[in-house]
Amino acid sequence: MSEFADGYGPWALVAGASDGVGSAMAAELARRGLNVVLLARRQEVLDDVAAGIREGAGVQTRTLAIDLAAPGAAREIIDATADLDIGFLVYCAGADPKFAPFLSGPLSDAEALVQRNCMVPMQLCHHYAQPMVDRGRGGIIIFGSGAGFAGGPNMVAYGASKAFDMVFAEALWTELSPKGVDVLGLILGKTDTPALRKLEHERGQISSPEQTPPGAAGVDDVVAAAFANLADGPTCLVGPEIQAAAQLMASVSRNDAVRFIAQAVTAAMGS
Ligand SMILES: NC(=O)c1ccc[n+]([C@@H]2O[C@H](COP(=O)([O-])OP(=O)(O)OC[C@H]3O[C@@H](n4cnc5c(N)ncnc54)[C@H](OP(=O)(O)O)[C@@H]3O)[C@@H](O)[C@H]2O)c1
Repeated sequence: MSEFADGYGPWALVAGASDGVGSAMAAELARRGLNVVLLARRQEVLDDVAAGIREGAGVQTRTLAIDLAAPGAAREIIDATADLDIGFLVYCAGADPKFAPFLSGPLSDAEALVQRNCMVPMQLCHHYAQPMVDRGRGGIIIFGSGAGFAGGPNMVAYGASKAFDMVFAEALWTELSPKGVDVLGLILGKTDTPALRKLEHERGQISSPEQTPPGAAGVDDVVAAAFANLADGPTCLVGPEIQAAAQLMASVSRNDAVRFIAQAVTAAMGS
């Protein structure tokens, strides 16, 4: 445990830490001896998560209630952590709560999504990676999605942002891994998080938010995969379903991959 803290501590910053995979990642980082900065929008929920982590792991915590889609979010985060040595960055927040056609909402929805999923993680990596490189150690995990493999309906900006995240993590790995910093693009398939439950419930796919969405991987499996593959970047495909999807995508033309995704999304979620 202390070896992990020596390699990646003393502080971790987790963006999207109030529930689901992000809060579980924060708890595991704390269990491994890191102090954690927990960031999301809901202050009260963050406070509860932070209290549980302090009680369970005996580490220090700091909470930041910041909307990552708001202008100036990265600057606010950087200023609020200026006194901390951040050795580990997890960028988890990133789901699209709407799953709607591109033209059905205002452009500002897509712009906010790209701000949160592309601009801010890039800005935070640019800031926090330099001290990691200077120390010759550190870790960065950026959450991706199978939606980034090829374009599909109802996820025009979302899928594009997740392609950005995957390639961004890969490229960053090529530069930082020789300098001692582990970079991992963690590509998830359907995963049982509060955000997914809310979306599926709103769409009538599950009858209650207490229900596990059928076919969803567990949060614990995602966390286990992240830590098991931390030093084996640049990319980790979490679970057999997403690994099979990636193989299928690689075996067909790009145009066929898009047609396949369009059919699969329509079959799984309705149009
Ligand atoms: N769940 C899946 O099936 C699935 C599948 C493929 C990929 N993924 C990826 O896995 C990651 C986690 O997904 P998730 O399902 O747990 O949902 P998510 O909404 O991306 O993550 C939830 C966490 O992010 C925070 N968050 C969301 N928007 C935020 C914003 N604008 N500013 C600050 N914090 C924000 C939420 O807290 P607050 O509400 O308190 O702000 C919460 O702590 C995402 O990157 C997603 O793309 C998920």
